[in-house]
Amino acid sequence: MKSIIIVHSYHHKNTEKIAHAIAETLDAPVQHLQNVNTEDLRKYGLVGFGAGIDSGKHYTPMLEFAKTLPDAKDKKAFIFSTNGVGGKKKMLRDHAALRNLLTSKGYCIVDEFSCVGFNTNSVLKYMGGMNKGRPNAEDLKQAADFANKLL
Ligand SMILES: Cc1cc2nc3c(=O)[nH]c(=O)nc-3n(C[C@H](O)[C@H](O)[C@H](O)COP(=O)(O)O)c2cc1C
Repeated sequence: MKSIIIVHSYHHKNTEKIAHAIAETLDAPVQHLQNVNTEDLRKYGLVGFGAGIDSGKHYTPMLEFAKTLPDAKDKKAFIFSTNGVGGKKKMLRDHAALRNLLTSKGYCIVDEFSCVGFNTNSVLKYMGGMNKGRPNAEDLKQAADFANKLL
């Protein structure tokens, strides 16, 4: 199945690293949000959407982008993110806004992935940040394993 990955990553490019690990396994291009022509997405059977988490949701530009997507009946999608605080339940909560937007467009969400990423938001920067060095090699391997399951 032809796949593409769309990413918005700015804080430390954490999510971009995950995007590339998934892309390598899927043999898929990675496109930055601002370069995506939404009509071109019709060519792909599987679309990955990923961004960092801010205030318990994917970054606002990703959510705004999802609102502009054309109807995608019978298209498959996966969602991923990096965050300051991990955990499966939290991931499902953090992904809810984007998941709801994508399903409202007709996407079938086949799986979701997240891991922690270096975070120097707000006062954390004065303490050296949290999750230094993440995503690390093990996180990238987990991302590749996730992509293998998608295949
Ligand atoms: C403005 C801002 C708000 C954030 N809010 C949250 C949050 O609500 N929950 C969380 O787990 N992480 C939060 N984070 C941490 C980021 O999601 C995390 O560092 C992520 O890996 C950054 O991804 P990026 O480097 O791809 O942009 C926040 C980071 C920033 C800069």
